[in-house]
Amino acid sequence: MRYLLQISDCHISPEPGGHYYERDSELLLKRVVAHALSLGISFDAVLLSGDLVHHGELSAYERLLQTIQPLPGVRCWVAGNHDNSEQMDRFDISVLKQSELRLGRWRLLLLDSNHLPDGKGSGSISPDSLEWLESSLSKHTDAPTLIAMHHNPLPTGTPWQDQIMLANADEFWSRVKPHSQVKGVLCGHVHQALELQYAGINMWSAPSTAVQFKPGVLTVTTEDDPQVGLPGYRWYELHPDGQIVAHLERVQDIFES
Ligand SMILES: [Fe+2]
Repeated sequence: MRYLLQISDCHISPEPGGHYYERDSELLLKRVVAHALSLGISFDAVLLSGDLVHHGELSAYERLLQTIQPLPGVRCWVAGNHDNSEQMDRFDISVLKQSELRLGRWRLLLLDSNHLPDGKGSGSISPDSLEWLESSLSKHTDAPTLIAMHHNPLPTGTPWQDQIMLANADEFWSRVKPHSQVKGVLCGHVHQALELQYAGINMWSAPSTAVQFKPGVLTVTTEDDPQVGLPGYRWYELHPDGQIVAHLERVQDIFES
């Protein structure tokens, strides 16, 4: 069995104590890390699925990595629309436009979804990355596979968010759909914990470790439900037979390590 932890949309501020939607996002990430450690699971990998800092500053990435330092597991990350890939490339973590991580029999394919950004939050996967994805899936048909990217490749029913989802989702799914070894797509971006399906393939979005957005509304609105609005994260059991079990954790504000 392998264990994968997914942390997303931390939106760390440039300065310690800085706020994101009136919340100290660094403090909330510390609570998330403490909660994840309290599970007592020896995670094999930590996937950071984008919007890790709010304005792309080097110092914010340094503080992010310092905050998650106590967690076990190999780090891997993809950039979100708030990230700065050039700054991320300075760290010893793979942030290639496309890369692969092996977890036992499992493969985790990392895709950059910030090609042709529209300036409003959307992005797409480049033609090169789509070619690489198709080629990679065709070569490893027996290995259960997860695909990770920042943007959600399915609409969520929240109008303002559906305008900034993965712009070339149809092309993405046309490459993925024929490959039955793909067990799921992991994303962030929506600041909601969703589990959707396309052609029998699950898409899991991780909640933000900081602030959640209310679904079904026309404009950006933070979640006011006291439970659903809590900071959160996901983790996954990756069984050797290809079965995957997804877990969702929400972290009480009062949680202390
Ligand atoms: Fe975000």
